[in-house]
This record gives sequence, C-alpha cells and structure tokens, in this order.
Amino acid sequence: MSSKESINKTLFVAFCLCVACSIIVSGTAVVLKPRQDENRILDRNKNVLSAAGLYDPAVDDDSNVAALFAQFTPRIVDLQAGEFLSSEEVSDLGIDIATYDQRTVLNDPAYSNAVPADEDIADIKRRVQYPMLYLQEIDGVVETIVLPINGYGLWGIMYGFLALEGDGNTVKGISYYELRETPGLGAEVRNPSWMAQWPGKQIYDASGEVALTVVKGTGSGQYEIDGLSGATLTTRGVDNMIEYWLGDNGYGPILDQFRSAAGN
Ligand SMILES: Cc1cc2nc3c(=O)[nH]c(=O)nc-3n(C[C@H](O)[C@H](O)[C@H](O)COP(=O)(O)O)c2cc1C
Repeated sequence: MSSKESINKTLFVAFCLCVACSIIVSGTAVVLKPRQDENRILDRNKNVLSAAGLYDPAVDDDSNVAALFAQFTPRIVDLQAGEFLSSEEVSDLGIDIATYDQRTVLNDPAYSNAVPADEDIADIKRRVQYPMLYLQEIDGVVETIVLPINGYGLWGIMYGFLALEGDGNTVKGISYYELRETPGLGAEVRNPSWMAQWPGKQIYDASGEVALTVVKGTGSGQYEIDGLSGATLTTRGVDNMIEYWLGDNGYGPILDQFRSAAGN
C-alpha cells in the first residue's frame, strides 16, 4: 500500500470515529435531557422547601420532596403590573408552569427587561418580568410566600429564595442554591447557623420602607441580621438584593396586598 493510501485510510478511520462519537454524545444528551430537567425541578423544589423551613437534610431526602412540595402552588406574577396572573393569562404568555424556568427567559425581551443602572441596587442587569412565586395555603389562608431572589455577591450572581409568612412581612427563612462565593467566607451564607437568624425578622417598618438589613458585625432587633466576618462584600450583596427585591421595583407591590390583608 502506498503512503498516500495509508494517510487516506487513517483520515477515513478518524472521520468515522468522530461521527460515531458525536452520535453517541448527542444521543446521550437527548436521552438524559428529561432526567436533567427532572433533577433541576427537584432541586428547585427542595430549595423552595428549604427556605420555608420545611426541608431538613438531616431528616428528609429526595423521596420526601414531592409530598412536601405538593403543599405549594406556583404562581406567576407580573412585576410591572404588581399582580398575580390568572392561569389563562399565564398560558396566553406561552408559559407552561410545570416547566417554566425564569432564569432561561432572562435574555428574552418578551419575558424580561433591562434594569436601569440607577435602580440596579442588586447589580443584576436584567430582571425577569414574570417571576414564579410559591404559595403555601392551609384552609384557604396563605401561610407562606416563597420569592426567588438574586443579586451580585463578590464573585458572581447569587441565586436563592426568601420565604415569608402570609402577612407579607415576617421572614420564614432564606436559602441560596447557587453562588460563586468562597467556601468558608462568602459561601457561609449557606451555613445553617447564619440562616437560623432570619426566621421572625421583619421586612418593612411602620412607614412601609424596607428596613430589613444585613449589618457589618452583630445585628440586633427585628430588622437586623449579623454580617459574616471576613465576607462583608458578600453580605453587602445579600443586603442589596433584599433591598431591591422587596422594594418597589421588585415584590413590594405584590407584598403590599398581603400586608394590607393582614392589616399592616
Ligand atoms: C481568596 C479570597 C477570597 C475571598 N472571598 C470572599 C468572599 O467570598 N466574600 C467576601 O465578602 N469576601 C471575600 N474575600 C475578602 C474580601 O476581599 C474582603 O476582604 C472582605 O469581604 C472584607 O470583609 P471584612 O470587612 O468582614 O473583613 C476574599 C478574599 C480573598 C483573598
């Protein structure tokens, strides 16, 4: 066999190998996609429960999540209108509530808007217009409202959930499920002992302003959370996202409805 023939043969074998490998890789990606989506939703639900103080990793596991999460109804909000959308309005928007991921629509102008720089306290650049909230109702009474929150820490955008009582003012808990902060420093926002300070804190003062704040050092009273020592920049990020998401450009108008219904 000439050397030209041998090179052609090698190239042909390499080409066949590439085609075979790409078929295997893309086939696997397609086959695993439903399982990945399932896991993404399981993880999200676990974090919603965790913020609400209903999921304890020491006792609960993945098999409990569906039953615990069944207590919650996901609801889409129109932030610009400050209103919950009806199921007809949700489907008119092309949103399938079972699979909706508000983070994947963040770059779609039909579902999100740019945040003007002077309003962008949390440094998020874009804000989803139709976030998904989770309501836990018992005997027709809203017991828990879980709100998705995000904002820049030190190294990147942190994603989490803040859970409130049905009065729209009292914190039930907070949980972060994605962040790039340093383990042992900023990532201590996931430390259960730091998270344990949040339940019972109040968000709004008597004039309706967001008063809940993360202070440097030790906090006191109903509006203050201790900062994390050595992680002031991350905790400032937490403080900023609380101010943004609970304020007038975030969930403030929606929470007004709950606060008025609760008489405060
Ligand atoms: C390698 C490295 C990683 C750091 N990671 C964080 C972090 O995740 N969050 C944070 O706020 N500060 C982090 N810092 C510290 C900040 O640079 C800054 O010193 C700190 O936020 C100030 O907090 P303090 O005033 O409580 O000391 C890190 C510093 C270094 C050198």
